[in-house]
Amino acid sequence: MSSSNRLKQITHHLTTNMTELGSISIFKEVPQAPPDAIFHLTAQYKADTNPNKINIGVGAFRTEELKPYILPVVKKAKAILHNDETLDHEYLPIAGTKSFTNAAVRLILGENSPAIKENRFAGVQTISGTGANHTGAMFLSHFYHKSKKCYISNPTWANHRSIFSLVGFEVEEYPYWNPETRGLNYEGLLQTMRTAPEGSIFVLHACAHNPTGVDPTRDQWKGIADVMREKNHFPFFDCAYQGFASGDLDNDAWAVRYFVEQGFELFVCQSFAKNFGLYGERAGNLTIVAKSPEDANRVLSQIEKLQRAEISNPPAFGSRIVDIVLNDKALYQEWTENLKYMSHRIIEMRKALHHHLVELKTPGTWNHITDQIGMFSFTGLKTPQVKVLREKYHIYLTDNGRISMAGVSSTNVAYLAKAIDDVVRHVSV
Ligand code: LMR
Repeated sequence: MSSSNRLKQITHHLTTNMTELGSISIFKEVPQAPPDAIFHLTAQYKADTNPNKINIGVGAFRTEELKPYILPVVKKAKAILHNDETLDHEYLPIAGTKSFTNAAVRLILGENSPAIKENRFAGVQTISGTGANHTGAMFLSHFYHKSKKCYISNPTWANHRSIFSLVGFEVEEYPYWNPETRGLNYEGLLQTMRTAPEGSIFVLHACAHNPTGVDPTRDQWKGIADVMREKNHFPFFDCAYQGFASGDLDNDAWAVRYFVEQGFELFVCQSFAKNFGLYGERAGNLTIVAKSPEDANRVLSQIEKLQRAEISNPPAFGSRIVDIVLNDKALYQEWTENLKYMSHRIIEMRKALHHHLVELKTPGTWNHITDQIGMFSFTGLKTPQVKVLREKYHIYLTDNGRISMAGVSSTNVAYLAKAIDDVVRHVSV
């Protein structure tokens, strides 16, 4: 065979096989996943050209002008970073920078925490609060053997279900919201805790529950702790809103600190997305409270191993900003003022929305809008009403009727109230 014929034959062979390979994709059976319930709303909102559109979907703070807010203290910290000639772009340690993780632990547990005094804690820098949830859940899936059941609230922040089922837990829900009172279903919650298998994991929102904005009172937290102790359950706190909820960092950490004082071993996931406005920088921390320094160190060693395999080392930029602020008295003080501004604006918008609904005599009671706390209000609006809000009024909120109060301002609150009034009166559910 001539060499040119041989070449033709090889080319033919290759093309035929490539076509065969190309005709059946190994990905053919991959099902289409639904879009994310929260971030898809932002995409739809951005694509909407209506001038009246409102984004009250994602929980991200906005100013009165509905613009993203760069905290003044964050601007200062960025300037410090910018001018710091000693900084380089080397890897951080696997568990993150100690000055950052220690400051984060002190922030949530309090300077005088028995766990800190007795040195039986550890901190791991994570990819924001979601990363802290994932890292904590993954560790438990390997090393926690009391129960494979994990309980999340109903209604829930959908990512809790995804995170815990991804690592192999059987995810159940505990009742949280009482539609009658538009408040906490305290008895239902306790009942589920009593009947759950001994040693189950309970994911608890430290403050500003997402999506309801309803928190247990201090007495209710005490009751929850009592049942959790009786049943040996593991408290897994998610704290995404410290300082943002009430404007007071200590107040928002009360439940976690109470559990630590009561002698629980626990995890706390901390996010600095909301309280520093560092959404994209993904700065977070997983705080571990154990019975002894040795226990805490062994847990940390295993989490480092897991972290190495997952992300190797955490990202530096956002955590450096938080580190600077938390470790400087004057900047820390300024941060607390920035937090007050954000929480105050949210509280004002709650009052404004409530005021307009009352003025319009919108059927139903609306006190829950001002009673709830943090970024979200759980309105009680049903999915068909939410759909009309979206399609007729260009108002984007999640199907469960959750409103991110940060997307409300004095310029859009009247329009929002009128639209709610319309769907409450005219859309049957
Ligand atoms: C939200 O609930 O809107 C935010 O916490 C964003 C998120 O990650 O879901």
